[in-house]
Amino acid sequence: MDVLTATLSHSDNSLFRSDVVEGLSRLQKTIPCRWLYDERGSDLFEEITRLEDYYPTRSETAILRACQPELRQFAGPGSMLIEYGAGAGVKTELVLKALAEPRGYVPIDVAREYLLQTARRMESRFPSLWVRPIERDFMSAFEMPTGMPVGRRVGFFPGSTIGNLDILEAEAFLSQMLRHVGLDGAAIVGVDLVKPVERLLRAYDDSEGVTAQFNLNLLARINGELGGDFHLDRFRHVARWNDAERAVEMHLLSLTHQWVSIGRRRFQFREGETIHTESSRKYDHESFGALAERAGWCVSQAWEDDGRLFCVFALSPRAGGGQR
Ligand code: AVI
Repeated sequence: MDVLTATLSHSDNSLFRSDVVEGLSRLQKTIPCRWLYDERGSDLFEEITRLEDYYPTRSETAILRACQPELRQFAGPGSMLIEYGAGAGVKTELVLKALAEPRGYVPIDVAREYLLQTARRMESRFPSLWVRPIERDFMSAFEMPTGMPVGRRVGFFPGSTIGNLDILEAEAFLSQMLRHVGLDGAAIVGVDLVKPVERLLRAYDDSEGVTAQFNLNLLARINGELGGDFHLDRFRHVARWNDAERAVEMHLLSLTHQWVSIGRRRFQFREGETIHTESSRKYDHESFGALAERAGWCVSQAWEDDGRLFCVFALSPRAGGGQR
């Protein structure tokens, strides 16, 4: 096993710096959510997935357990699983188990440690599997490795990570996935569903305060990596429902009027002003189906958990292929 491409080296933080400086210079201060995931952030996110208040991981895992025969039939024998944002890989194992004699596994993630850990685990659990991890941001444009075994390619995008993309990004992502798997390929995408706002907000502002730590860790990361002087106790985590966007938003709210330095740059915060750090869009069958169609896919099947909180969509390329 070797790691194919390394796009972001750990020592190079110029992209992080320019995203932070540019984002904090805007009227609505904002920092792209991908920067939430340094080592501590990734560990905190793993902790979130086990929280009682955070239902998506539990719901999706229950669906993947319940629909194993349908998944097997949908993907067909000898398929190649391509996983976008491989993370800790718990659900990967469920899907690989469901597939009939999977031929290969291509995990894609920028988090090198998680990527290699997952790739190694799958290699040991499925010894005949061809495994080729790709260290990459799955949102960037890239090609599948050469020399992949022949087999139906199945894209896997779990966790409702699609909700963290805006509509155009989500469309671009699904189009690229279609290009990667080809017109005889398929995809399995986990999507969090719209539901009463109180339930959503509880998931993003949990009673144990782990999501608050996850969000505030971004300021600690800026202090550590970019020479910032954020006082973490002068900010508070808030989760808000944005009805127009159908998204839960995470913000960091400034508790006082204050100035913050990052290297040689200074930023002013009014009391109550926020930094928008993440949007988590929620879909229903109609809105997700329309998004998938615009990217050249159609929904073949959809499986929900008993509480109808979450949905796993099985996608096939639209007849005639291509985007609408
Ligand atoms: C990774 N992503 C799908 C999570 C979500 O639900 O949007 C990230 C997260 N943010 C706060 N809690 C979890």
